Amino acid sequence: MKVNKKLTIAIDGFSSCGKSTMAKALAKKLNYIYVDSGAMYRAVTLYCINNNLISEGIINEDLLKQKLDEIHIDFIHNAETEQADTFLNGKNIEEKIRQIEVSNLVSPVSKLAFVRETLVDLQRKISKGKGVVMDGRDIGTVVFPNADLKIFMTADVEIRAQRRYDELISKNQKVNIQEIRDNISQRDFIDSNREVSPLRQAEDAIVLDNTNLTRQEQLNWILNLIELHFQS
Ligand code: DC
Repeated sequence: MKVNKKLTIAIDGFSSCGKSTMAKALAKKLNYIYVDSGAMYRAVTLYCINNNLISEGIINEDLLKQKLDEIHIDFIHNAETEQADTFLNGKNIEEKIRQIEVSNLVSPVSKLAFVRETLVDLQRKISKGKGVVMDGRDIGTVVFPNADLKIFMTADVEIRAQRRYDELISKNQKVNIQEIRDNISQRDFIDSNREVSPLRQAEDAIVLDNTNLTRQEQLNWILNLIELHFQS
């Protein structure tokens, strides 16, 4: 599909809604870059875990602030999976950051204003001058308030837990569905109620409830929207 300019497409929504699946497929179709902003918050969380900056759920904020300059996050194309892997200080952490240990601590880390400020800068820098699809929680509200297209995704929590469970099981991770359901609900709550950049639907966002939609149906839905508004 040919669109009339390099679009900025923001996809926000609740945890485990399939945002990244749709964003990746869309970016591929349009030949745009895809930026997984959640992976950046996960990378900072992993850094905290690896460097003992979290003890009993409490983050050593002063130390993290000092160390922020030492955290370098990159996305590098993986020829085998045809997707970008997340790297932290030169190490591929793609698999590690999806584990439940990181999922359980990422929301408290992403509540911190100084972490958000740094990552939002990086998100804007990576995208400058490019056609981009970025997914997260504050992309349409904070990172790109002037995005060309804003989607807000939601789905029934049971369906989201089941999808995440199936995904982790397929990667041979030991998980139980209750733990996943609790993690999703807890992250929804923290992400929506934090003081800085809470998850909320931008006024000009279009809602997509994908509870009963297949991946292909979701992709078709957004491609139709783009065709309608931006095809050259
Ligand atoms: O998209 P994800 O589930 O991988 O994101 C992990 C966490 O990172 C999510 O629970 C909240 C945080 N996050 C955020 O605060 N802002 C973003 N733009 C993206 C993610």
